[in-house]
Amino acid sequence: MRGKFITFEGGEGAGKSTHVKTLAAQLKEAGIDVITTREPGGAPGAEEIRKLLVEGDTGKWDSLTEVLLHYAARQEHLEKTVLPALDKGSWVISDRFADSTFAYQGYGHQLGREAIQPIHDAVVGKTEPDLTLILDLDPEIGLARTLARTGHRNGAEDRYERMEIEFHQRLRTGFLDIAAANPGRCVIIDASQDIETVANEIWYALETRLNLK
Ligand code: TMP
Repeated sequence: MRGKFITFEGGEGAGKSTHVKTLAAQLKEAGIDVITTREPGGAPGAEEIRKLLVEGDTGKWDSLTEVLLHYAARQEHLEKTVLPALDKGSWVISDRFADSTFAYQGYGHQLGREAIQPIHDAVVGKTEPDLTLILDLDPEIGLARTLARTGHRNGAEDRYERMEIEFHQRLRTGFLDIAAANPGRCVIIDASQDIETVANEIWYALETRLNLK
């Protein structure tokens, strides 16, 4: 049987990576075969493209170029990692997927949904996630958390973190709009709560949405 495809989404510092790991451990404990992966990245070529996107000047790419690079990485990720795993019956948990492009490039860079949708349809087609967990957090808090973790904002992978606060506020609105438009697939989790509460809400979402016992 084909595996389930679960994605985590949200702004900076919302705790996605922590909860990806926790959920994978819980699923393994429940006897489910699962892999964790991330975007941009998750396959050798996609990791090379990631470097182009997350390092360097904030304004180095035209917004549509940025979308194309994210979808080029996504195509590699889907073909080389996600689809083979799902076909084998393994579950896949991805730290970010296509909603990030609609939120960051569509809302953050204000490119709009219409510019992205045809590219999305060509690459993602019917491989939509079975469940998307959106970790929602005030960007002021998220960015402060990231800063506390890294000690500075000039680490190699902080190109998006360095974008103006209004960019981060717009993409938060983007994720909330995406959730409202896709209620069957998306669950919003309040990421300002403590780690254990967030993990419990994530597990409850799986139990109720994916009929996990
Ligand atoms: P990460 O910090 O969660 O690993 O993600 C890398 C950065 O890439 C993050 O700041 C969000 C950004 N991003 C986009 O702008 N568009 C996308 O489609 C994806 C997947 C990520």
